[in-house]
Amino acid sequence: MSEARQILVTSALPYANGSIHLGHMLEYIQTDMWVRFQKLRGNQCIYVCADDAHGSAIMLRAEKEGITPEQLIANVQAEHSADFADFLVNFDNFHSTHSDENRELSEMIYTRLRDAGHIATRSVTQYFDPEKGMFLADRFIKGTCPKCAAEDQYGDNCEKCGATYEPTELKNPRSAISGATPVLRDSKHFFFKLPDFEAMLKEWTRSGSLQDSVANKIAEWLDGGLHEWDISRDAPYFGFEIPDEPGKYFYVWLDAPIGYMASFKNLCARRPELDFDAFWKKDSTTELYHFIGKDIINFHTLFWPAMLEGAGLRKPTAVAVHGYLTVNGQKMSKSRGTFIKARTYLEHLNPEYLRYYYAAKLGRGVDDLDLNLEDFVQKVNSDLVGKVVNIASRCAGFIHKGNGGLMVDRNAAPELTDAFQTAAPSIAEAYENRDFARAMREIMALADRANAWIADKAPWALNKQEGMQDEVQAICATGINLFRQLVILLKPVLPNLAADAERFLNVEPLVWTDLQTLLTNHQLNAFTPLLTRIEPAKIEAMIESSKEDLASTETVAQPTGNGELTKEPIAAEITFDAFAAVDLRIALIEKCEFVEGADKLLRLTLDIGDAKRNVFSGIKSAYPDPSKLEGRLTLYVANLAARKMKFGVSEGMVLAAGPGGEEIYLLSPDSGAKPGQRVK
Ligand code: MSP
Ligand code: ZN
Repeated sequence: MSEARQILVTSALPYANGSIHLGHMLEYIQTDMWVRFQKLRGNQCIYVCADDAHGSAIMLRAEKEGITPEQLIANVQAEHSADFADFLVNFDNFHSTHSDENRELSEMIYTRLRDAGHIATRSVTQYFDPEKGMFLADRFIKGTCPKCAAEDQYGDNCEKCGATYEPTELKNPRSAISGATPVLRDSKHFFFKLPDFEAMLKEWTRSGSLQDSVANKIAEWLDGGLHEWDISRDAPYFGFEIPDEPGKYFYVWLDAPIGYMASFKNLCARRPELDFDAFWKKDSTTELYHFIGKDIINFHTLFWPAMLEGAGLRKPTAVAVHGYLTVNGQKMSKSRGTFIKARTYLEHLNPEYLRYYYAAKLGRGVDDLDLNLEDFVQKVNSDLVGKVVNIASRCAGFIHKGNGGLMVDRNAAPELTDAFQTAAPSIAEAYENRDFARAMREIMALADRANAWIADKAPWALNKQEGMQDEVQAICATGINLFRQLVILLKPVLPNLAADAERFLNVEPLVWTDLQTLLTNHQLNAFTPLLTRIEPAKIEAMIESSKEDLASTETVAQPTGNGELTKEPIAAEITFDAFAAVDLRIALIEKCEFVEGADKLLRLTLDIGDAKRNVFSGIKSAYPDPSKLEGRLTLYVANLAARKMKFGVSEGMVLAAGPGGEEIYLLSPDSGAKPGQRVK
């Protein structure tokens, strides 16, 4: 192999205001597999990431939860880190954009851009919430669509008719934060002069740094002409103040990509062998790869390279773009239970199943990737359990019983072990080009050959014949060597399986060059099952839990602000008829019990006058002793569509208020109300 490369790799920084789901995981798993491949090849490869912690969404969510933004982002960072670790995503560093390193680097880059004349300022007129005292981003303005008159639409587009417009065109605009009617107000904004970099971008995007389809998309933008980019936001904002401009903050997308550098800088402080400047200086000989989803292409292929160039720093070697995840052919859906959080998956299934499935389906393109759950079960069971692990489990027993676990020094299929070695460069090339699907196809083709050969030799039959024991030992030792080669090839995808196999094989951590050697006269450790089949019931349980995540947030009223009555904006106006369509009844809670296996739910048996109803409600956190609710009257939505859950069918729902957790307050009528009476 030529001299070791020095490679810095990033995944996009997840927003610090929500949980990681399987769509995100497509990106982090893909990047991690590529990084592990580079490390296995002996390259110096550093993988950094961070939480993207700034912006008004995070500020407002913290306010709703009654905590500081710093507390919110610390909580989320702990959750994200655990999710990634448990999916075996092995960051060298996971930092935060709300860090000293990021503040320094953002100030440095901005100042360089400003001093080189790449920053402009001008006044911008925008909607301002007079009650909340802040400017409103488009998604915080709601109103009536100017085209189709649909109510309750966002400030930039209508979900009903698809029209796009300026927030000022909305009819009856109101602040989604306070409900107040916004007013127009002027303010000074700072712009990054992207058009200064048009020539550089035209060249860079065609220099082989991008997939063809991505380069074509950008060419369209470049041909359409570049615009100056608004990089400032007014206080109140959770972010970094712009140097020398009190009350003005960097827009979250300005300091987010700088977060890649900041995370690396933070790592350098712990790893003295790493030289920050060597990786970021203009003529750096190191490589820089960004893995991102297709929704954030412009930030990484226009703004970011231009910022780097303008600040006198190196540009990315490549930006690797992937498509979006769909589940069972459709967009992830909360009501179908296919909006699956990373943690929910991990509660039911082994992370390596998903890593393998993503690898098997990830090509070089930007097409969306479908997680078809039936295909997932079938593919993992047939490939990993049926083909790979099967080789070891077929051979290990004979070596342990027949030869005390010692592999003999005889290769019974040199043509096969050679073929595995010959196939390795093509598989390496597929990994290098991020064509994981091709790598997996070629590896499974080798596994098929190994299995066919063992089936043909049938050591289990030979073992019953007199005088064939040497032959059996030679076949099984060869089988174990073939298995070992497959483990090396799959190690970027299945690090845990590889570690377990290394223990069984009684070898040091395997690296790519170990493909060229075979084990002879080698003592094995006891064989323990490496991977078990996916049981389809586990998939069902995961889907049901995903629905439960939703049910428990739905039943509980929206969070309120810092102990104040409500910060929840009043929802869009409805007609009396719309209200009357909701059949609210008085219900008597006859029985109330825990639901086995459910973290958040209680099962209520309701008497609604002339009938009984079974309802699951996500209120367990507030009612640790469910029997206390028995005999109590509450309000019940009688005509809500029934929902099938893992634990049974939920028929309607009971009403409660409060922010959640221990603060959930079930509603009750005055005394005298009778079960079944309608609430009007
Ligand atoms: N915070 C920004 C990125 C800043 S990078 C300097 C952001 N965060 S995100 O949490 O919304 O997304 C993080 C990554 O996950 C993005 O690359 C995004 O494309 C990817 N995905 C989010 N949902 C996804 C799917 N459903 N499917 C595949 N990837 C998805 O964007
Ligand atoms: Zn409309």
